[in-house]
Amino acid sequence: MSDQLDFFNATPEGLAPVCLSAQRRQDNDWTCADFFCGIGGFHVAARNLGLRVVVACDIDEHAQHAYHENYGLKPLGDIVAIDPNDVPDFDFLFGGFPCQPFSIIGQRRAFADPRGVMFFQLLKFIRAKRPIGVVLENVKQLSTIAKGQVLQRILDDISSLGYSVDSKVLNALHFGLPQKRERTIIVASLLPFRTFPWPVKVAARKPLSEILEANPPDKYFVSERIRRKRREAHTAKVTPAIWHENKGGNVSSHEWSCALRAGASHNYLLVDGIRRLTPREQLRLQGFPDDFKIVCSDAQTRKQAGNAVPVPMVQAVMERLVDHIETPEIAWQPFTPQPSIPTWPDSR
Ligand SMILES: C[S@@+](CC[C@H](N)C(=O)[O-])C[C@H]1O[C@@H](n2cnc3c(N)ncnc32)[C@H](O)[C@@H]1O
Repeated sequence: MSDQLDFFNATPEGLAPVCLSAQRRQDNDWTCADFFCGIGGFHVAARNLGLRVVVACDIDEHAQHAYHENYGLKPLGDIVAIDPNDVPDFDFLFGGFPCQPFSIIGQRRAFADPRGVMFFQLLKFIRAKRPIGVVLENVKQLSTIAKGQVLQRILDDISSLGYSVDSKVLNALHFGLPQKRERTIIVASLLPFRTFPWPVKVAARKPLSEILEANPPDKYFVSERIRRKRREAHTAKVTPAIWHENKGGNVSSHEWSCALRAGASHNYLLVDGIRRLTPREQLRLQGFPDDFKIVCSDAQTRKQAGNAVPVPMVQAVMERLVDHIETPEIAWQPFTPQPSIPTWPDSR
């Protein structure tokens, strides 16, 4: 075990010490940070694995309210304004960072205010806190924007801080949820890995019947006019099914839902072509347990569920990461920063 103790006390040149003690590791008392926390998909997964969230942040006050009511932890606000020295240390960093500005990152020199690119903010915390493990989530397209160069730069930046890093597109459908939701997942670890042991297809998909409420209130049923429009466009082969209307007006139906989206039109997903999903059903489609308290309006909860990370999907990844850290594949090698690795425009 002595190499492990060396690792936990290691202070790579020019970087903050790893904020772990061997005692905490032995006690499995892992702590974590939940950045861009929304309503806490990462929090639920962390709690299921016995990890303790010690700091969270989200700029949206409704998300903060829901988070506080459910987990008793009040998220901090704008991540740009948070100084890493003002928050507690943590062992793991989790974050589903907003993705809007990525389309411009391809022209790296072109964007004027790198503080708007939220990945830099996460990097600020990774650099300062040296969490032993990191899991980040973003849209599937992050893997392909600018022919993969954006993702590669993100991986390079994390790697330049001494981490093993990897990424993969995972689909919530393969993790027990009846929702087709593909997301780019990035993992990083201070304990090196050759290849990250990604979980794949870990659970059978829950049937929709277990997601749908028995007697949804009338307000979720759409008008006869919309129902007729859907019926004219589509005939379903199965019931229950989620009918999906795409941007071109084409309607399809499946025994699973297409991805929930925060800003999509109200009726793009309809149960059997006749009613919208209730907030509870939306939360279930993301893997939130039924004891999650709904404390915001339908509109806010719909936005929150549409933004959330699928719980069992990230939980499976986090579990593999914790397993790896507790039983590393390769012995720790002291890290020497590589000055030749290019960095982002200076934002830290
Ligand atoms: C994709 S969602 C993350 C959802 C979360 N992982 C969950 O499971 O609910 C991104 C979140 O980042 C938040 N956000 C955007 N800009 C922010 C900022 N400057 N500081 C903190 N949070 C921010 C948004 O309010 C939103 O809730």
